[in-house]
Amino acid sequence: KQDNGINYLIYVNGQNPVDESWEKMIAPHLVTCTNHFEGDNTEYVLEKQTYEQFEKLRAALLEEGIRIELDSATRTIAKQQAIIDEFTAKFGAEYARKYAARPGYSEHHTGLALDTALVIDGKYICDNDEMMAQKEINEVIWSKLADYGFILRYPGKNGGLFESWHYRYVGSPEIAHEIMDNGLTLDEYLAMKK
Ligand code: DAL
Ligand code: ZN
Repeated sequence: KQDNGINYLIYVNGQNPVDESWEKMIAPHLVTCTNHFEGDNTEYVLEKQTYEQFEKLRAALLEEGIRIELDSATRTIAKQQAIIDEFTAKFGAEYARKYAARPGYSEHHTGLALDTALVIDGKYICDNDEMMAQKEINEVIWSKLADYGFILRYPGKNGGLFESWHYRYVGSPEIAHEIMDNGLTLDEYLAMKK
C-alpha cells in the first residue's frame, strides 16, 4: 500500500472480483478526466495518480507524434453490462465474452485501468481490430508505458487475451518495469511475489 492507502497491485480477473470495500475505499480518490478529442463529451473517471501519470504518458507520446486519448476508464457494474450488451448485439456473444469481463470481474471497476483510442490524421480510432493493426505505433507506446507506472495488461502471451489498448497502472515505474522488461503478465508477476 502507498501512503494514500491504495494497493495499486490489486488483482482482478475472471476469478477475482472487485469487492465492495475496494469501491468504498477508491471512491474519494476518483477524479474527472479530460478526453482532449474535440467533440468527445463522455465523462471519464480514474484514480487520481493513475490519471496524472496517464497525462504524463500522453504528453510524452505527443512529443513523438503519437496521440492517445481515453476511450474507456472506470466503469460501474451497469456500464460493464452495457458494454457486454453492445458487443453482443454488434459482434456476437463469443466476442463479448472475450473482450468484456463479467460485471464485477473487470479491472475497469478498480479505477486503475483504462482503454485508449488513437488519433491519426485527425481521425479517432477505437475499433479493436484497427487498434491492433497499428503495430509500429503500439510498439512505441508500449515501450514508454512502464516509465509512467503502466503495464500492458493483456499482452497476448501464450495465447492469452491480447488487448493492445488496455493499460493498467501498478503504482510505480519500478514495478511496471519489472513486469514489462521481463515480459511478464500481471498474473505471473503476482504469483511470483506471493
Ligand atoms: N476488456 C477487459 C477484459 C475488461 O472488460 O475488463
Ligand atoms: Zn480495458
